[in-house]
Amino acid sequence: MLNLSKRARSISPSATLSIDTKTKELIASGVDVINLSVGEPDFHTPDQASLAAISAITKHFTKYTAVNGIVELRQAIAKKLLEENHLQYTANEIIVSTGAKQSLFNIFMTILDPLDEVLLPTPYWVSYPEQIALCDGIPVPLVTNESTQFKITPTQLEQAITPKTKAILLNSPSNPTGAVYTSSELHALAEILNKHDLYVISDEIYEQLTYGVAHESIAGLPGMRDRTFVVNGFSKTFAMTGWRVGYVAASEQLVRAMSSLQSHTTANPSSISQWAALGALGTFNLQTVTEYRARRDFVVAMMSSFDGIQCIQPEGAFYVFPNAAGVVSKRYTSAHGDSCVIKSVDHLCELLLTEAHIAVVPGTGFGAPDNFRISYATSLSQLELANKRLKTFFNQVE
Ligand SMILES: Cc1ncc(COP(=O)(O)O)c(C=O)c1O
Repeated sequence: MLNLSKRARSISPSATLSIDTKTKELIASGVDVINLSVGEPDFHTPDQASLAAISAITKHFTKYTAVNGIVELRQAIAKKLLEENHLQYTANEIIVSTGAKQSLFNIFMTILDPLDEVLLPTPYWVSYPEQIALCDGIPVPLVTNESTQFKITPTQLEQAITPKTKAILLNSPSNPTGAVYTSSELHALAEILNKHDLYVISDEIYEQLTYGVAHESIAGLPGMRDRTFVVNGFSKTFAMTGWRVGYVAASEQLVRAMSSLQSHTTANPSSISQWAALGALGTFNLQTVTEYRARRDFVVAMMSSFDGIQCIQPEGAFYVFPNAAGVVSKRYTSAHGDSCVIKSVDHLCELLLTEAHIAVVPGTGFGAPDNFRISYATSLSQLELANKRLKTFFNQVE
């Protein structure tokens, strides 16, 4: 049997998708698991999007489109960026792709030469380091923790820059921590990024979901526009994970390079999904934020009530990222009397799944092995049920 390529052998499967697979297997075998591992909204895709998609099918908009997306959608995205983010882009400075995941991959493929370094604040979304490595770049972790609310400091940034540094990845609001950079924090980082002439990949996919500090795009700060790739998509804001539509706004030269690349990989994203995305724009319901905020408050209070768990209050996205280092080395004893020492937070997550039937994602895949991620993109009634199970579980830990 011939070997797989080194590249294929180097990829780890997505930690979030593999816990999801395990959870679904348990559910299929009849176990009633509460799934707090998923990174997708429990709301429905807006009707305006679904109806636009149906209309696209009946009107036979089912053929290849321009590689970078239909002009109607790119114009509408440009309008959205201007009105909501105060960013000025033309339709030619926007490329639509098959999910923000592809947008990010296009960026790394376009800017990285072998051994170029990309500064990557930890905890990070699982796909960033894998994608950077797949493009022969080196992800350089900038470690953060609860003490800075999971945000990097200007000094930390400046000290990490080397002659090989090409770019920094910023994800605000963040998956998995929910951290949101304030305007003054962004200004301080922007000053250093300008000084060192670096690219910025600004993943703003959770921009609408903030509960205190409003989202601001770093691309709008002085000197930043032409060095920044603004990444966004329809998955989280419009509950359209399955439609696969994401986009990047950047200077025309960068967009042209990404379009050439995309022309040889997927070409255009699904024509039907593009019309659906156009239908979705402008329909975001602020009530969603109120609902998520209530859930966040519930989960933070719930997690903070357990011994050994430290849980800071996130300002955005739909995740809470508790630190469970204080539970490691304690003993769990089940109702049947079986007992074991909790070896790590990964082990704790395994026990939560098999004993309490609660699925969460271990922090290891996010570069933070002391933490785990809870998604509250699920109803309050499910979260209340989870609370009961977790109480029972943590009562059996000592
Ligand atoms: C931070 C972040 N960026 C990008 C994505 C990719 O989103 P999609 O490919 O569904 O547009 C996700 C999805 O989980 C995410 O959490």
